[in-house]
Amino acid sequence: MSAKKEGDGGWKSFIWNSEKKEFLGRTGGSWLKIFSFYVIFYGCLAGIFIGTIQAMLLTLSNYKPTYQDRVAPPGLSHSPRPEKAELSFSMAEESSYSAYVKNIEDFLKAYDKDKQNDEIKFEDCGDTPQDYKDRGELESSEGIRKVCRFHRELLKECSGQTDESYGFKDGKPCLIVKLNRIVFFRPRAPASNDSIPEAVRPNFQNNLIPIHCSSKREEEADKLGPIDYFGIGTGFPLQYYPYYGKLLQPQYLQPLVAIKFHNITKNMDMRIECKVYGQNIDYNEKDRSQGRFDIKITIKS
Ligand SMILES: *[C@@H]1O[C@H](CO)[C@@H](O)[C@H](O)[C@H]1NC(C)=O
Ligand SMILES: *[C@@H]1O[C@H](CO)[C@@H](O)[C@H](O)[C@H]1NC(C)=O
Repeated sequence: MSAKKEGDGGWKSFIWNSEKKEFLGRTGGSWLKIFSFYVIFYGCLAGIFIGTIQAMLLTLSNYKPTYQDRVAPPGLSHSPRPEKAELSFSMAEESSYSAYVKNIEDFLKAYDKDKQNDEIKFEDCGDTPQDYKDRGELESSEGIRKVCRFHRELLKECSGQTDESYGFKDGKPCLIVKLNRIVFFRPRAPASNDSIPEAVRPNFQNNLIPIHCSSKREEEADKLGPIDYFGIGTGFPLQYYPYYGKLLQPQYLQPLVAIKFHNITKNMDMRIECKVYGQNIDYNEKDRSQGRFDIKITIKS
């Protein structure tokens, strides 16, 4: 009966022992008990697992990141965004700036007028800076919210409509600037004229986060030449805030500012800093894109 005595036939009777009606040493009933034990055991395990994850998901919002303290305050970014923040080109050679032009063109596509026709998704919010546009609570049942239109035409000479080279062929390059999105963030405009540097005061307006660019080296300030700012006011108007997130405002368009440098001294590395100003806009020595950006522009004649 034992495997030893029957020699190499032993393993066969181990698999199926017809005398005892045992399969692998156990009867059918025994196998059934083991099987049901494991079904219940793993069932409970899965239940605990799913339950824990569900409980955790309940504490998360669909609409707003739970932990976003690390991303506020907003970064300031620009198009084109050349490598190492060095914009270098020659007016006479189209190939030296065509990549920059393409970058702006691609970026501005979302701002085409004909993409903002849908009256259900878009609305006009005025072409002067106005107060925040409140569209209800994030967690309410209202669902998708409208967004404000921002037509690229507002960027005038830098809109690509009248000058397809965005000023590059004339040595008067445009930069398109935006404040990065932060869900439900309300940037706060400077409290008064006196709270911002003197050079920025002409750009001060109610309900506006003003932007201003200057030469990083004071001694080169006279080589930067005049700068124009296009958009709504000279900065970011508050009616475009707060942003309700990807789910509730899938069509959201950040307000833009186009910066046009009219007479940058040629054949010289101009180091420029552009900065936005507001009560809750901070700057950080480690993260140089927070509330500002640096760029080096070299125009070869
Ligand atoms: C801000 O300052 C400018 C001059 O720097 C002045 O002309 C203007 O009236 C001031 N605006 C306000 C709202 O104080
Ligand atoms: C541009 O700047 C140069 C000197 O930096 C000046 O001589 C020239 O007149 C300026 N051009 C215009 C159109 O302002």
